[in-house]
Amino acid sequence: MRARNVTDGVLWVGSIDWDRQLFDELIPLPDGTSYNAYLVQGSDRTALIDTVDPTKTGEWHGLLDALRLTKVDYLIANHAEQDHSGSIPFILERFPDAKLVCTPKAKGMLIDLLHLDESRIATVSDGEKLSLGDMTLEFIHAPWVHWPETMLTYLPERRLLFPCDLFGSHLATSELFMSDASRVFRAAKRYYAEIMMPFRNLIERHLERLSGYDIDIIAPSHGPLYDDAQFIMDVYRDWVSGPLANKVVVPYVSMHGSTQVLVDRLIGSLADNGVVTVPHRIAQGDTGRLAMELVDAATVVLGTPTVLAGAHPQVAYAAMLANALRPRVMFASIVGSFGWGGKAVDQLLSIIPNLKVELLAPVIIKGFPTDSDLDAIDQLAAGIAEKHRGAGVM
Ligand SMILES: Cc1cc2nc3c(=O)[nH]c(=O)nc-3n(C[C@H](O)[C@H](O)[C@H](O)COP(=O)(O)O)c2cc1C
Ligand SMILES: [Fe+2]
Ligand SMILES: [Fe+2]
Repeated sequence: MRARNVTDGVLWVGSIDWDRQLFDELIPLPDGTSYNAYLVQGSDRTALIDTVDPTKTGEWHGLLDALRLTKVDYLIANHAEQDHSGSIPFILERFPDAKLVCTPKAKGMLIDLLHLDESRIATVSDGEKLSLGDMTLEFIHAPWVHWPETMLTYLPERRLLFPCDLFGSHLATSELFMSDASRVFRAAKRYYAEIMMPFRNLIERHLERLSGYDIDIIAPSHGPLYDDAQFIMDVYRDWVSGPLANKVVVPYVSMHGSTQVLVDRLIGSLADNGVVTVPHRIAQGDTGRLAMELVDAATVVLGTPTVLAGAHPQVAYAAMLANALRPRVMFASIVGSFGWGGKAVDQLLSIIPNLKVELLAPVIIKGFPTDSDLDAIDQLAAGIAEKHRGAGVM
């Protein structure tokens, strides 16, 4: 890719990773991703905002060569994670007079992660401004978005925010600005669920603070830019604090069909009670989809057979992931089948302490479901519907 014009004096100088399928060895990337970096060319000084993943450093050389860029005064590192910081050493070498600008916390982390020369780094405090001549960069410390060292960079003369990972989406596209709102909405929701949801309380505060800034354009570090900043700020507000959906997410495994019958009954019975179910067959499913469904679900029901005296390891994994992602879910239960005995329920409950849920009585049955087992599932469904009504989600 070549550099692209974002607005007067601001260029996109990133890299698109069309083929990447997995992030952090954890997050599936069905649509690839991009690493967005930006060049802000003021009348007196030039700043580069973030860099690209180290796997793209070689390609990035070409983009910068084509620009015939002779000088970078400041390299702004909003975030120390390597998908944005990984090419910093190459920039510091290419531009020996460039100063790296970051938060005090990021300074230590960048030295730890990239073994940078301390003398090249200048730290900035929250709210500090840096003049580029006719343009100014203002730094907004935003810890835990999604690492402790993060900051956002604001360019008031262009009403433009560079929020790094916040508001991003893992979406490789040659469109600079978002055009297909529903596609970007889904990609951004998936990304929020996987990366930002665990920090939703802090993000809510950062959103409040950002509402005091005049922002037209948001230029994140992954995915397309937003020329309607309000769009993505509104959906984030909804995800962190909007109403929950009348929805039950059911991550489950069934080896020989018994737990499957329970799940099928639960889907039908919840539908009769006016509640939507999202079944998620873990072994074949995409964990990003599961995370995304958890953003606004009111209830989660884990479905597991007993395996070697405990829960199926795939269900334990899904429970561990849900616990780490801290969705706003209010109610939980467990359904499943066993052959002779075990501690699947206790084990799963011990995995999800972060979910501040009310537990509805689990339905754990022996062998293949009988009519009375199915009645118990009907009761669970009716109980969930009642809870949803009481909580105002239906
Ligand atoms: C590999 C394996 C290990 C199992 N370990 C246990 C166990 O430790 N305790 C138990 O009660 N049942 C155990 N079972 C039996 C299953 O829990 C039982 O067949 C259950 O009905 C399976 O539910 P499903 O049809 O939804 O897979 C095991 C089954 C398999 C295949
Ligand atoms: Fe990150
Ligand atoms: Fe990132």
